[in-house]
Amino acid sequence: MQLLLLCMTALLLLTSANGLDARTKNAAKSNSYTPPPPPQGGRIVSFRPSKQTKASVPVFANSLFKTKGTSNAKRGVIGLTGKGRDGSQTFPDIYQVVADHHALAVPNFYEARDRGQSTTDGVHASYLNATRDMVWPEKSVGSWVTGEDAAEGGLGNDYDLAGAQISSYDVIDQLVRLYSDKSIYPNMQDIVVAGHSAGGKTTVSYSYISDETPEGIRVRYVHLNSPSSIFSESHRPLSTSSCSSYQSWPYGPQGQQPRYVSSRLQAATFARWVSRDVVRVTGNADTQTQGDDSDCGATVQGGRDRLSRNYGAWVYENMLAGTKTDLSEFKAYKQLQKSGLKSQNVGVFNKRLAIVDGVGHDSTKMFASRIGRQSILDDHIDQGPLPTKQ
Ligand SMILES: *[C@@H]1O[C@H](CO)[C@@H](O)[C@H](O)[C@H]1NC(C)=O
Repeated sequence: MQLLLLCMTALLLLTSANGLDARTKNAAKSNSYTPPPPPQGGRIVSFRPSKQTKASVPVFANSLFKTKGTSNAKRGVIGLTGKGRDGSQTFPDIYQVVADHHALAVPNFYEARDRGQSTTDGVHASYLNATRDMVWPEKSVGSWVTGEDAAEGGLGNDYDLAGAQISSYDVIDQLVRLYSDKSIYPNMQDIVVAGHSAGGKTTVSYSYISDETPEGIRVRYVHLNSPSSIFSESHRPLSTSSCSSYQSWPYGPQGQQPRYVSSRLQAATFARWVSRDVVRVTGNADTQTQGDDSDCGATVQGGRDRLSRNYGAWVYENMLAGTKTDLSEFKAYKQLQKSGLKSQNVGVFNKRLAIVDGVGHDSTKMFASRIGRQSILDDHIDQGPLPTKQ
């Protein structure tokens, strides 16, 4: 049967090759991939973030996620993948928490190298439909993490970008807008954007820069084990004297920025950011440095490992905001005091720190933990065990 199909495809290619350009031939080839079945509880929705182009982004979605008709979901979750672009893994990690009680959408941002492959670097790239899905530029830390525009549309005729500029953050914005659409989600009350690792970093940056905050709906941003944060001015826990990138996006608000970011940077103040419901979840065993962002822009935020940086950023944000939180047990407290950091005394501080005891850099365990579940589902989130004498 498969052989027959192959022969027919080959025949089709042979007979029609003359009139086809290279792009279409490529698309035909990549269409011979059959995607693996979606993870349990999920289906793949071909989501179009812009009316300007037919190109789409594959979204792993549960039963309450709808793009037409109506859904009675009160809570809409947007899950973001790690740097492996592994939506088929991120979906089950969050589905174990929300099941079919809330809407869940996990957009999968792919890169050009994922086309025509069943796997790339362990990525289940066969969920990528090369004919219609847009792809992002290839960078060591995903370009979609920092908010760059898609590089190309799909390879099929009519699926190019047609001039549309679509940041990965535009895609998240469109999902927020969809959840806020009362004609589809009449009961929607809460939207949660959540991601682990590079998905956490995407959440940090998105929560800082996006101005998509629908009226009458609460938006929460949850970043778990993010490799770095955004420091809005120049003080850092560690010395910056031999680091030229520490102020550059996505570590700070300077340097070269993607189009989406630069056009919104002026409105993105520290005071606005800390007034948002942003939850920093960190596993207190996330201390290994392997596979981590080793750029000095990340390191000067607290150390070589993610836990130190999450603590460093937490102390920094509290000190800069002028909160009354006792920070004396954190190593970064003395370091930042010495740096000469001055408080900006902002009025509203809604950021939270929640520490998952004994869990390291593990997306599945982080989401499954009590704090992980609370961060997606509840108003209250436990703080977990604070460090003692770091
Ligand atoms: C890929 O997308 C094209 C265009 O929408 C569609 O015709 C085709 O069926 C898709 N392939 C798979 C395997 O879903």
